[in-house]
Parts: sequence; C-alpha cells; structure tokens
Amino acid sequence: MLPMMAAQPDPTSIFRLDGKVVLITGTSSGLGARFARVLDAAGATVVMAARRIERVEALAGELRDAYAIHSDLSQPNAGTELAHATIERCGRIDVLVNNAGVSNTLKTNEVTNDDFARTIAVNLQAPFELMRETARDIVDNRRTGAIVNIGSIWSMVGVGMITDAPYAASKGGLLNLTRELAAQWARKGVRVNCICPGWFESELTRDAMFDDPNGKAWMESRTPMGRGGAADELDGALLFLASEASSFVTGIALPVDGGWTCV
Ligand SMILES: NC(=O)c1ccc[n+]([C@@H]2O[C@H](COP(=O)([O-])OP(=O)(O)OC[C@H]3O[C@@H](n4cnc5c(N)ncnc54)[C@H](OP(=O)(O)O)[C@@H]3O)[C@@H](O)[C@H]2O)c1
Repeated sequence: MLPMMAAQPDPTSIFRLDGKVVLITGTSSGLGARFARVLDAAGATVVMAARRIERVEALAGELRDAYAIHSDLSQPNAGTELAHATIERCGRIDVLVNNAGVSNTLKTNEVTNDDFARTIAVNLQAPFELMRETARDIVDNRRTGAIVNIGSIWSMVGVGMITDAPYAASKGGLLNLTRELAAQWARKGVRVNCICPGWFESELTRDAMFDDPNGKAWMESRTPMGRGGAADELDGALLFLASEASSFVTGIALPVDGGWTCV
C-alpha cells in the first residue's frame, strides 16, 4: 500500500489578502482604479483616496468592503493626514500602495520652480509621509506589512524624447527611497518594493501615446515586445508584492515594461 500523501495546500493562497487593510492612492482613474478592484477581489478591505471623490465613491460602491477618502496629496502634510484618517477609519494599515502620480511634459527650460515642487509633492513627498506613518503603525503594533510604490521606467533610466524632468526626479527618488526604507525596516517587519511600469493606457498617457499615431508608433518601436501593456498586466506584480507571496523580497524594482529597460 502506498503511504498517505499530505494534502498539498493551494499554492495560490499566498497571494490572498483576506483580512488585510490596504490603503491605495490615486484610485479615481487608470491604474489605481484597476489596482483597487484587484485588491478587493483578493480579499482586502480597500481604502481608496483621490481628489475626484465622486469617482472614488462610485468605485467603492461596486466593491465588497471599500472606503473612499478625499485627499489632495499636493497639499502640505496630506500624506500624513491620509494615513491617520485610514487608521482612524479601519484601525490599521497592513499594505500601502503609493500609486497617485502626476506628470507634466514641459520642456525643461519652461519648468518653473513651482512646477518642479508640485510634482515632487505628489510623487515623492506624499509617498514618503504615507510610508513613514504606515511603518510607524505597523512597527508600534508589532505587526508585519508591505509597501508597494508605483515608480516608472523613469525610476531606472532617462527617456529624453519625452521631456519631464520633475517626473524623472520624483520617480528616481521614489525607487531609491524604496531601497533605503527597505533596508532600514527589513528587521522590523515592513517590506518596501517598487513596481516600474512601462506604457499603459490611462488619462496620463492616452493623448500623447495611445491616441497619437506618432507617439504610439514610437512607443511600440522602442519597446522590445512591440506594444503597450494591457490593463491586467500589472495585476500579478501587484499581488505578488502586496502579499505574503513575496515574504522574502524587499527593496526591489520590478519592471513591468515589455522589455523597455532591458535594452
Ligand atoms: N500609465 C502609465 O503608462 C504609467 C507608467 C508608469 C508609471 N505610471 C504611474 O502610475 C501611477 C498611476 O498613473 P495612471 O497612469 O493611472 O494615471 P492617471 O489615470 O492620471 O491617474 C493618476 C491618479 O493620481 C491621482 N492624483 C493626481 N494628483 C493628485 C493629487 N494632487 N492628490 C491626490 N491624488 C492625485 C489622480 O486622482 P485625482 O485627479 O482624482 O486626484 C488619479 O487617480 C502614477 O504614479 C504614474 O506615474 C503610469
């Protein structure tokens, strides 16, 4: 008689987020709205933030267990206040997804100091505050947690053809902040990682890249896979880095870019 084999646990269960409170910024459109649906489907309680609160509330109404919070991350202290509002509403933050971002394709000699500061405020200052407050909540309460930052190919390389110096500075900064905080918090139970997407259709990219034949042809010819990303092609990276599936992974940049940064 063959010995009884132990039942094999479902290997996909480590990607689940049941019982976790996830805070995600920039959920009124684009990647963030998609991420909120994916995190909801994976079992999380999802706290969603943006300025266009009516859109966020409509999305919350479609999800299982979701909350909408108005937040303008360009304002001083906004990241700190959003983290505190989330903890007040849901008791804690287990996973933070820093997704909100702005771009502005001005020529560099036309970028004012205010333009530069506005991009840094939303893309770097607010994510820093959110990470600091999330880690404080996790460490003070002796839990573990994960932070997923949404960087860009501009986190890893320059682009040049599309001029956005403030964006490049903010996304490069976000990736090295990811590495620094990952190292600082590695023994404290907080993992910090960064997804670096290539081109995905959204309000940010539609006009210049997906609806413009020249922009689209340039993007497709420059991308080794010859196309932009489909809406669901960030789901796997997000679930991996947000869940226990990546429990021994911290401080990484994960490009999801059709090969843009490998050449
Ligand atoms: N699409 C791509 O190809 C691509 C590639 C690489 C990286 N990314 C990154 O992915 C993230 C999402 O971009 P997306 O493509 O989905 O663009 P999107 O559709 O324009 O979404 C940007 C989100 O950020 C929020 N946001 C902007 N300014 C804000 C502010 N001051 N306060 C609070 N929220 C603010 C917007 O909400 P409100 O306007 O309602 O506030 C919106 O929900 C960004 O970090 C972007 O840099 C995108």
